[in-house]
Amino acid sequence: MLFYQGFWYLSFAFQGIISFQSHFEAHDTDILLASLPKTGTTWLKSLLYAIVNRENISKNHSKHPLHTKNPHELVPQLGLNQPETIAQVPSPRLFATHVPYSSLPESIKTSNCRIVYVCRNPLDTFVSSWHYFLQFEISKETKPDKEMMEEYLIKYSKGVSPYGPHDEHVLEYWKESIQNPTKVLFLEYEGLKKEPKAHLIRLAEFLGFPFSADEKDNVVDEILELCSIKNLKEMEVNKSGQWFPWVENKYLFRKGEVGDWVNHLTPSMAKQFDQMQENLKKAGFSSK
Ligand code: A3P
Repeated sequence: MLFYQGFWYLSFAFQGIISFQSHFEAHDTDILLASLPKTGTTWLKSLLYAIVNRENISKNHSKHPLHTKNPHELVPQLGLNQPETIAQVPSPRLFATHVPYSSLPESIKTSNCRIVYVCRNPLDTFVSSWHYFLQFEISKETKPDKEMMEEYLIKYSKGVSPYGPHDEHVLEYWKESIQNPTKVLFLEYEGLKKEPKAHLIRLAEFLGFPFSADEKDNVVDEILELCSIKNLKEMEVNKSGQWFPWVENKYLFRKGEVGDWVNHLTPSMAKQFDQMQENLKKAGFSSK
C-alpha cells in the first residue's frame, strides 16, 4: 500500500485515484456513494440504483437490471473504472468512491452533487475485509492462519488498511454531514439493517427522488426485497459472474450480519480496536 494525503491506498489502484482526483468533473445532478471497503458499498449501490430506476418496479421486478448486472456494474467506482465507462453513465449519474473526503476532486465539493456515506462498525468491517481479501492474498501454498489474521488486525486497528485509517475516513465524512446536511447524508450499516424502511424513505428524500404515499405502501418493500442480500446472492450474475477479471461477484455477498465479529475475534483481538472505537464514539454516533 501507498500512503498519500494522510490515507493508505492499494498500490494497484493508485494511478486511477490520481487520475480521478485530477480529471473528474462533477455534475450538479450526480449522486456519489462514499464508503470504506466492506462497509455495505454493494448494498447501497443496489439501493441507490433501485431508488433512481424504479419505474414499473412492482410490475417488472424480475426484469429489473439488478437481475442481470451486479450493483458494481451499474454504479461505477471512481478511480477504479475506466474513463470510458464513466463517460457512458446516464444522468442522473450514480458513482461510488472509497476516496476520503479531503482527497475528493474539488468539483465534487463545490458542485451541488450529493454524497451518501455509509459507515460500519470497524470490527465487523475488519472481519468482512479479512474474508474478502483472503481470496487475493492467499496463494495455493499459503493457508490463512490465526497469526496472519492477527498481523492484519494489528495493522488495520492502527490505521493501515485500504483507504484507512478507518476512523479518520469516517470522521471526515461525519463532520461534513454535520456542516452540510443537504450535501452529505451519513448512514450506518447497522441502522439500515435495523430500520431499513425508514432509512430507504429518508435516502430517497435526500436524493430528490421521494416516494409518494402509494409507493411507501409497496415500492419501498419491493426495493428492499430486490436488494436484500438473500435475493442478490441467489441471482445467477452474482453466483457466477465477475465484476473485474480478478473479482468474482460471489465474494461480495457473505453473511451481511451485524456483530459477526464475535464469531471470529477473541476479546483481546477486539481490544486492539479500543482507541479507534473511542475516536468514533467521541464524534457522537454509535456504530455497535
Ligand atoms: P460481511 O462480510 O460481513 O457479510 P462491501 O459491499 O462494501 O464490499 O461490503 C461487503 C459486506 O456487505 C459483506 O459483509 C457483505 O456480505 C455485505 N452485503 C453485501 N450485500 C448486502 C446486502 N444486500 N445487504 C446487506 N449486506 C450486504
